[in-house]
Amino acid sequence: LTSRKTALRGRLLWFDADPAVSAKAARFIEDGIVVAENGVITEVGEAAPILKRLSGDVVVSDHRPHLILPGFIDPHLHMPQTQVIGSYGAELMEWLAKYTFPEESRYGDPAVAQEAAVFLVDELLRCGTTTAAVYCTTHPESVDAFFTEAERRHLRMIAGKVMMDRNAPPALLDTAETGYAQSKALIAKWHGRGRLAYAISPRFAPTSSEAQLTATGVLASEHPDLHIQTHLSENHGEIAFVRELFPWSKDYTEVYERHGLVREKALFGHCLHLSERERTALGDRDASAIFCPTSNLFLGSGLFDLAAIRGAGIRVGLATDIGGGTSYSMLQTAAEAYKVLAMNGQTLTAYDAFHMMTAGNAHALGLEERIGRLASGFDADMVVLDSGATPALRRRMARAETLPEELFVLMTMGDDRSVVATYAAGRRVHERQGLASPSISP
Ligand code: GUN
Ligand code: FE
Repeated sequence: LTSRKTALRGRLLWFDADPAVSAKAARFIEDGIVVAENGVITEVGEAAPILKRLSGDVVVSDHRPHLILPGFIDPHLHMPQTQVIGSYGAELMEWLAKYTFPEESRYGDPAVAQEAAVFLVDELLRCGTTTAAVYCTTHPESVDAFFTEAERRHLRMIAGKVMMDRNAPPALLDTAETGYAQSKALIAKWHGRGRLAYAISPRFAPTSSEAQLTATGVLASEHPDLHIQTHLSENHGEIAFVRELFPWSKDYTEVYERHGLVREKALFGHCLHLSERERTALGDRDASAIFCPTSNLFLGSGLFDLAAIRGAGIRVGLATDIGGGTSYSMLQTAAEAYKVLAMNGQTLTAYDAFHMMTAGNAHALGLEERIGRLASGFDADMVVLDSGATPALRRRMARAETLPEELFVLMTMGDDRSVVATYAAGRRVHERQGLASPSISP
């Protein structure tokens, strides 16, 4: 195996991993270089001294004057919902029944799943997202399709087969037994292959019987290092339904707690209407709450209380939730997060937002040692951003005097058009059309 050494030059920006200590500590190098070998970052620093040391056969991709950041991370989205986005006029439970479940029923067909997987991976890379936590459908074929595509592009991806055995159309249901067995087989097949990781994925409490939740708890206990992903406390109708279905439970969170599903690397989508007790339970067990602003606004679900979630010591992620969510772009997602928080008397600085999209989301996924930073030993997954991608951005940027101001305008007005290139494991996996070749030798 020959070693592949590559280097990127540009304006480097990243954040240190520990959000308690340095969430706000931006690291910025105006003219910097990232060197990667065999998919891993080996050196980060000022361009001049690194250029002197680099041997002549290393190609430097010169992205000046663009920003180079760790690839964006999207910790909650649904592969089978790329054709559900923008479905009109319903709140969560009606939206699921009317649009989402019928669409997901198509994914037992491997050709349907494969076509969607290719589209999704392309679109994520076009938006600068290099890692995502992905819900597939009940059908194991949908997981095979997604992981096959992720593996082909050498990506770090997390995904799982949705388990649901009630309150949905028959074509989408598994059983406590088949849900367990199919998940088990998919774990054996995919988990740890390349950079792929399997997530145990009970859809949410309303679509799982007690028997299925029990089997899921057994699966989770047999695989203590795996991610778990599900939905929690998104919508008032959903919460009332959970109260009906699980009369023994004092709240929604206890349904998951009782089955051993609240733990480290358990990702709870939404968490909008939690009680103090529920937040304490999530924080005590080091679980993660995933904020999905475009989805929460689109489905009229509610406003995420970032201050309360952080106050309880819960790890926080920021995600698109395609297709309840309406944009694949983490920049647009951050812009909507700012607006949600503004409605709630809270704020999100540009540094906080860009930290969330990178190191913060890595922390929410328990991957803070692997991705989300430009640092030696980290995966060489990066996004190159053009702050002046559109006439409107260029006009506004002419008045941006500081880096935080530039970043705030970039997230407010930017989107996929701002993504010049995306790198995964040191390879260029997306390039904006019309980009002049950026490759020069040092
Ligand atoms: N709760 C259970 N399933 C879903 C889903 O697919 N999308 C959203 N937004 N919430 C859910
Ligand atoms: Fe979701």
